[in-house]
Amino acid sequence: MVQTQIAVEGKKFLVTGGTKGIGRGLVLNAAAAGADVITCYRSEDESVASLVRELKETPGDHHVVRADVGEPEGVRSLMEEVRTRFGRLDVIVNNAGVISHIPYANLALDEWQRILDTNLTAAFLIIQESLPILGPGASIINIGSKSCEVGIPLRAHYTAAKAAMVGLTKSLAKELGPQGIRVNVLAPGVIVTEAMLALPPDQLEAMKVRYTAKTALARLGEADEIAGGMLFLASDLSRYVTGEVLHVDGGIT
Ligand SMILES: NC(=O)c1ccc[n+]([C@@H]2O[C@H](COP(=O)([O-])OP(=O)(O)OC[C@H]3O[C@@H](n4cnc5c(N)ncnc54)[C@H](OP(=O)(O)O)[C@@H]3O)[C@@H](O)[C@H]2O)c1
Repeated sequence: MVQTQIAVEGKKFLVTGGTKGIGRGLVLNAAAAGADVITCYRSEDESVASLVRELKETPGDHHVVRADVGEPEGVRSLMEEVRTRFGRLDVIVNNAGVISHIPYANLALDEWQRILDTNLTAAFLIIQESLPILGPGASIINIGSKSCEVGIPLRAHYTAAKAAMVGLTKSLAKELGPQGIRVNVLAPGVIVTEAMLALPPDQLEAMKVRYTAKTALARLGEADEIAGGMLFLASDLSRYVTGEVLHVDGGIT
């Protein structure tokens, strides 16, 4: 029989980049589903205090820590926190991501490196450091992007990093599968975030019109809808799913 209850209760989650955008939705939904969650961020701003407040109102053992996963030192301090607080991990969600829009001719090596450090190298380091505390049944979820399949001008560095995340995922699925560890990509389409809503009204409107027209469901996505995919990949409902890319994108092309 299929177990229909989404079983993440009591599971230990690490979600990187959880104070804003999609990550915030992932953290709050995991906590609301009964998981214990550690998340991290870089910038001290109101989003941190408000997330801490919301998590305090949600049962469970939750922690919001400052750690820049784009730096190996930041990953080390985050993982120290995870080992001290939880001692084990059941679910890792590599969500922290950065983007910039730069013509390829002007793309500086520093900027290429910055985008790869957070979007790709952080996942490599976090998964490697987590191996000793990941047990059978653990699930690693790497947040990808539809954009790496279709390509987008001015985002060669970002889409290269996201495409590499797919290769990392598929190889690790085979390498870690015999230990009962699953590894998948969760690939959002265009999701409404605080950063998007902060755009000047004319730019926001133009963006909504452009991407709505490309999307089968004729609307942009919500962070909670990405959380639905995360809960599926985190739970035993997906226990025979690994090395996959789960698109949660409203049918965007
Ligand atoms: N939004 C979309 O439409 C969309 C579409 C496809 C894929 N994605 C992917 O989804 C993920 C989340 O994107 P988003 O749009 O939700 O981003 P966002 O709104 O910019 O939020 C990013 C979150 O990650 C944190 N973060 C960024 N860099 C970090 C670092 N080096 N160390 C620790 N925390 C860091 C940010 O905290 P600080 O502000 O403190 O740095 C923030 O909490 C990314 O991997 C992105 O590529 C997004």
